[in-house]
Amino acid sequence: MFYNRWGTLRAGVKNVMLELRDITVTVTEGTEATILKDINLELEKNKIYVMTGPNGGGKSSIAKTIMGIYQPSKGKLFLDGVDITDKSITERARMGIGYAFQTPPRFKGLKVRELLTLAAGREDINEQCDLLFDVGLCAQDYLDREINASFSGGELKRIEIATLLARNLKVAVFDEPEAGIDLWSFQKLTETFAQLHEKYDLTLVIISHQERILRLADQVIVVSEGRISDITSRDNILAEIERIDSDCLCRRDCIKGEILSAECDR
Ligand SMILES: Nc1ncnc2c1ncn2[C@@H]1O[C@H](COP(=O)(O)OP(=O)(O)OP(=O)(O)O)[C@@H](O)[C@H]1O
Ligand SMILES: [Mg+2]
Repeated sequence: MFYNRWGTLRAGVKNVMLELRDITVTVTEGTEATILKDINLELEKNKIYVMTGPNGGGKSSIAKTIMGIYQPSKGKLFLDGVDITDKSITERARMGIGYAFQTPPRFKGLKVRELLTLAAGREDINEQCDLLFDVGLCAQDYLDREINASFSGGELKRIEIATLLARNLKVAVFDEPEAGIDLWSFQKLTETFAQLHEKYDLTLVIISHQERILRLADQVIVVSEGRISDITSRDNILAEIERIDSDCLCRRDCIKGEILSAECDR
């Protein structure tokens, strides 16, 4: 333990890969609104962070700010100690930041194999088969298919996740990877995230509300009303979920017409 120059007690030296320092984001389309306020985050190498919190809290906006899609009106971002605040999306992608959108865009006119080749910077069929398997898609059915409106939402989501897995990233942000994905593929995906963590020196940020994803977290970041409202352990969050679950049971009893007991009434 030692005191750093700000006088904060720290348990050892942190190996920070990405830092958001005092980030505020104001959007000006339509009416002006501040959607992120004074965000401070230090994300370490080789750790899994799960970002969670209520709808509209600001999770995707933080991801977009990391990727350079939103520019902060105040504050700075650092990747491995380098100031990237003024870097474009393309420059950040080249430097090793990847973001899989909550709602993926359609890459019209490209075949799945071409998209994966672009993402990885090489065409390796075996690797592409493995990547599709990792996201629960059969390579035979998908590699030569053109990405167009015929793809389902879940298929598009999985292909986009595969493009991120194909890249050699320093920071990978997955925005609600479970959305629209069936249970089998979701199970495969959680295993893939765990393996990624074991294999590579990667900072993984997963935005999710899923308990199974929360269980992967080294730390859980709670975002609400445009601020970081808590940074806590997965055990604390899981205990909180359990408490809310039992609370809901009480309410169901109440709805069924039973009297709400004093101990249920919290
Ligand atoms: N470009 C924008 N213009 C105006 N408002 C925006 C913009 N981007 C985000 N917001 C607003 O900022 C708030 C946070 O949005 P964000 O998408 O980051 O939430 P979220 O935590 O990802 O929510 P969800 O869990 O529903 O995905 C919302 O109220 C949203 O409407
Ligand atoms: Mg979101």
